[in-house]
Amino acid sequence: MTHPTRSFDHAGASVLVFGDAHAAGVAAAVAIASAIRSAVAARGKAVLGLATGATPEPVYAALVEMYRSAGLSFAEVSTYNLDEYYPMGPLDLQSYRSYMHRHLFGHVDLAANRAHILDGTVPEAFAARHAADFDRWIWADGGLDLQLLGVGRNGHIGFNEPVDLPTGEALSLPTRMVDLHPTTRADAGKDFGGEDLVPRRALTMGIAPILAARSILVLAFGPSKADAVARSLSGPVTSTVPGSLLRSAPGRVTWMIDEAAAAGLG
Ligand code: F6R
Repeated sequence: MTHPTRSFDHAGASVLVFGDAHAAGVAAAVAIASAIRSAVAARGKAVLGLATGATPEPVYAALVEMYRSAGLSFAEVSTYNLDEYYPMGPLDLQSYRSYMHRHLFGHVDLAANRAHILDGTVPEAFAARHAADFDRWIWADGGLDLQLLGVGRNGHIGFNEPVDLPTGEALSLPTRMVDLHPTTRADAGKDFGGEDLVPRRALTMGIAPILAARSILVLAFGPSKADAVARSLSGPVTSTVPGSLLRSAPGRVTWMIDEAAAAGLG
């Protein structure tokens, strides 16, 4: 069930193609559980970077199931989420804090003071300091053992949107406040009851802390992601396709995708 239908190496990454999103989600959960167990065995704790959105929902469902029936514990785990809309209250239905509570935090034994999400209520004058603190927290926690990622239709990772920057500068981008791309706001419109109601800004983990993770697991499902997957894995490494910047971490990135998302890989 959790085996890929095919797998290959592509541009320094491992690509595993699954029959459907559910099978990929279960395989991702198995990989995350194994990362937790080996980090806890080696260092007494595990540090995860987590994503939100539709893509990781089957992963969280499988992790909750493993907590309930397969002895997986989050007692020694810390988590750092990729992003949060700004401004955004933690209890708002569209907040990533409430998403994480609904899909994972509310169902497992993860300590509340180890489940870190950028704060969409931080006063604007302190947002830059809060973002820099977030990077320091990750560093002080020993760095991310595993970063889970989705990819936007425009190739974004976290809310690192396509921008025109020298690649070296893009690779060094820290956690920070960003303007959301029109495609991102259009896609989020369904969650907010209309594109106009989607916040214009967000706090996002930067490219640098994402790439510093000891392993990176990227998920993409469905035909709407095929172009972003193809441009992330082939063509130039460029800040205009943030997913392509993952090629700067050869040997540490695994893509788990379905056949529809793999369609552009040839
Ligand atoms: C979410 C995140 C985003 C999403 C991406 C795909 O925390 O950082 O980059 O992973 O927008 O979203 P879905 O999965 O809803 O297609």
